[in-house]
Amino acid sequence: MPTHSYVPHAPGYVDNEGPKIVTSRFGYEDSFTLERSQATGGYQALRTALDKTPAEIHSEVREATLLGRGGAGFPAGIKWGFLPPGKFPYYLVVNGDESEPGTYKDRLLMERDPHQLIEGCLITCYALGLQQCFLYVRGEMALAQERIAQALNEAYAEGYIGKNILGTEFSVDVVLTWGAGAYIVGEETALIESLEGNRGMPRLKPPYFPAAVGLYGQPTIVNNVETLSNVPWVTENGARQYKTYGSEKSPGTRMFAVSGHVKRPGVYEVEQGITTFRDLLYGDNFCQGIRDGHELKMFVPGGGSAPWFFEEQLDLPLEAGPVGAAGSMLGSGGIIVMDDTTDAVKAALRLVRFYARESCGKCTPCREGTTWEERVLQRILDGEGRPSDIEMLLDIADNISPGPYPVAADPAQDLDAIPFPPKQTTICPLGPSSVAPITSTIRRFRHEYEAKITKRDPIPVAAEKAVS
Ligand SMILES: Cc1cc2nc3c(=O)[nH]c(=O)nc-3n(C[C@H](O)[C@H](O)[C@H](O)COP(=O)(O)O)c2cc1C
Ligand code: SF4
Repeated sequence: MPTHSYVPHAPGYVDNEGPKIVTSRFGYEDSFTLERSQATGGYQALRTALDKTPAEIHSEVREATLLGRGGAGFPAGIKWGFLPPGKFPYYLVVNGDESEPGTYKDRLLMERDPHQLIEGCLITCYALGLQQCFLYVRGEMALAQERIAQALNEAYAEGYIGKNILGTEFSVDVVLTWGAGAYIVGEETALIESLEGNRGMPRLKPPYFPAAVGLYGQPTIVNNVETLSNVPWVTENGARQYKTYGSEKSPGTRMFAVSGHVKRPGVYEVEQGITTFRDLLYGDNFCQGIRDGHELKMFVPGGGSAPWFFEEQLDLPLEAGPVGAAGSMLGSGGIIVMDDTTDAVKAALRLVRFYARESCGKCTPCREGTTWEERVLQRILDGEGRPSDIEMLLDIADNISPGPYPVAADPAQDLDAIPFPPKQTTICPLGPSSVAPITSTIRRFRHEYEAKITKRDPIPVAAEKAVS
């Protein structure tokens, strides 16, 4: 049985100072139990919600500007308003397929506080008039599945889920489903295909925007785990209180998973919009700087799909607008830090290989192009690169995500050379995601590519260790 002691620095999560909205129970070893949840205010927000009208709850979430945490940053309250009136049944699908490289915050939310997530789902169902919720958890996350299953059983037994919840007219069933570990199933229409028992491949949008034509052809809201985990707090404390944290355009807090060459990697809950990359990567309260006296070489600011950033972007706030204007995105909230021992070409290959393996194969530019990208990068690293390989890589990139390319060797001359947001010739953004590591590194470290191609420069041993 779990003990009830407080664990200030549990693995994977760093209990930094600052407001806590979704990680407030993370320090307790038994944070996942119903007992701990109830002892710390769990399911109080559900009671508060049931005393109000569904429209009041929806309007509170809209007013809070609760931005989606799955990647696109779309406001949840606005998305909820897209459900076409009267086309019942509606469904809620919870996206717990988290597989974006460098991202591991939803896993912690599911493992450490499944009752908070379930409560968020219940309140959302109440606000939108839904009676069925599907919770989809990534295949490899065995502990998260186990804890959610246990929490669902506890919540059913306690009368929080099921028929006539807490003696009201409100009834909901929550179904737990888990995938088989495909990254692409995190894309919402592929997730819906998978839930329906089909191969997880994205659908064309339009017409298959889930809010219009979703699960079993019915209007469906798909929300990320962290998005929904915020809903109990917003319901209980209100939009005005939520907006006292963060910036005007990005209120509240957000979880960032930092990995790589910092002294203190981990998941941090930080105020959005007012915290900068520099605060997060170098602050004493956060990652405490680059390890072993090394210098920062580059960082991926928002999960593997995001174009890379460098020293000069460190003072940008953690907010979608400024990060987008600088040519990248906060995406899934995963920041990968690489120091000066990192081989840029090898680091690019590592990510490109991921996308090549995870391509679902539905469209030609992604299916073929990601594999070609991987092969060309591999031969450059093997000392067998050809003089035309840099242009070849940019040409493949242009076929998956049209340019303008090529990018100049001097980054100061080609600030607009990498189009953002990326254009795509593909059904979903996975293909263009494979292009970001290539264009980011060619633009900045073309000389590393050239050295490997012309001088047959072997990979430095330190770099090999650093990115392995
Ligand atoms: C290739 C790909 C992978 C994705 N993976 C995830 C994921 O693992 N988790 C997630 O919540 N959203 C993921 N998304 C975004 C979802 O399609 C969807 O926008 C999100 O679940 C909506 O939730 P939100 O509005 O609460 O952010 C992915 C998108 C793409 C294109
Ligand atoms: S872009 Fe890639 S992952 Fe997305 S639908 Fe096309 S082939 Fe599948």
